[in-house]
Amino acid sequence: MRAVLCRAFGPVEDLRLEDVASPVAGQGMLCVSIEACGINFFDGLAVQGQYQTKPPFPFSPGGEVAGVVTALGEGVEGLSLGDRVMAFVGFGGYAEEIAVPAAVATKIPEAMSFEEAAGFMIAYATSHHALKDRAALKPGETLLVLGAAGGVGLTAVEIGKAMGARVIAAASSDDKLVVASRHGADDLVNYSDGELKDKVKALTGGRGVDVVYDPVGGKLAEAALRAMAPEGRFLVIGFASGDIPSIPLNQYLLRQVSAVGVFWGAFAKAEPERNAAHVAELLAWYEAGKLRPHISETYPLERFQEGLGRVMSRQARGKVVLTTGRSAA
Ligand SMILES: NC(=O)c1ccc[n+]([C@@H]2O[C@H](COP(=O)([O-])OP(=O)(O)OC[C@H]3O[C@@H](n4cnc5c(N)ncnc54)[C@H](OP(=O)(O)O)[C@@H]3O)[C@@H](O)[C@H]2O)c1
Repeated sequence: MRAVLCRAFGPVEDLRLEDVASPVAGQGMLCVSIEACGINFFDGLAVQGQYQTKPPFPFSPGGEVAGVVTALGEGVEGLSLGDRVMAFVGFGGYAEEIAVPAAVATKIPEAMSFEEAAGFMIAYATSHHALKDRAALKPGETLLVLGAAGGVGLTAVEIGKAMGARVIAAASSDDKLVVASRHGADDLVNYSDGELKDKVKALTGGRGVDVVYDPVGGKLAEAALRAMAPEGRFLVIGFASGDIPSIPLNQYLLRQVSAVGVFWGAFAKAEPERNAAHVAELLAWYEAGKLRPHISETYPLERFQEGLGRVMSRQARGKVVLTTGRSAA
């Protein structure tokens, strides 16, 4: 089978698609013939050695996959050969086959395509955990989402609406805001002119927002913090701008707001049962039509450089997904 291999930390251009041995399903594991793999921003950070988790070499990037079960290890229950499954795997998804612990595999609803399933888990589960567990977002509260047309940002817009909040979507261009609007945002803010704080204050009658969802960081983070209402929660999601901001603590004191860290991968590992319940709720929302995954582009596995490049260069809308075309072969 073919897999994209990272043999040393370096630029994305150093990655190569190679022939490797097929995986074997050990105890409690299953083998999946991968149909699609979601591209995430952290895939690019990981191969450059800039991500918090550093797997041993050689490794394949790719944190989430969707495909068909082709082998069951000893002790696996509840899944059968031929089942369509999706899984958060962390690494190893830019490949044609993968062995995963059965506990992390979830059956894909009939109506969901492999492409949708491959881009679903990380983005939706991160925003769900962030808004529900970490921010305790309440109906009627106002949520500001930065990078609102990006992978995780767009899911925060949809989940914020599903939870009954008023959602202000903020992004760097009007065409990105059109995407956020189509996914339910109530108000739109283009922050390319550096006026984020004033625009958000104006939209909230000077009061500010209750919750900020920030996957971008950099200068935008402090501008968003300054646009918060008392008792607000600032969700630290990520730093796609490449800049981890240092915001003086007096800003939190003066505004009476909290900074709340979010690390979904660690949560999912530490609390698999709670995470599984969250994913079940998200899939129920999907089946009820409340969530509409936005797969903006797909690339065949051999064009992974282009797909990853779109995400790393700020051009992606929603999710970009790799496909192997295995079922068609
Ligand atoms: N905490 C967690 O558990 C968790 C889980 C998943 C992801 N994350 C993190 O969340 C962040 C976003 O991930 P994602 O997969 O949603 O990425 P994405 O689809 O590329 O979205 C990131 C957004 O950030 C904005 N951005 C600003 N400067 C950028 C730059 N220099 N390059 C790229 N984007 C830039 C872009 O929106 P505008 O152009 O509108 O500004 C873009 O849409 C990453 O840092 C990722 O590691 C965290």
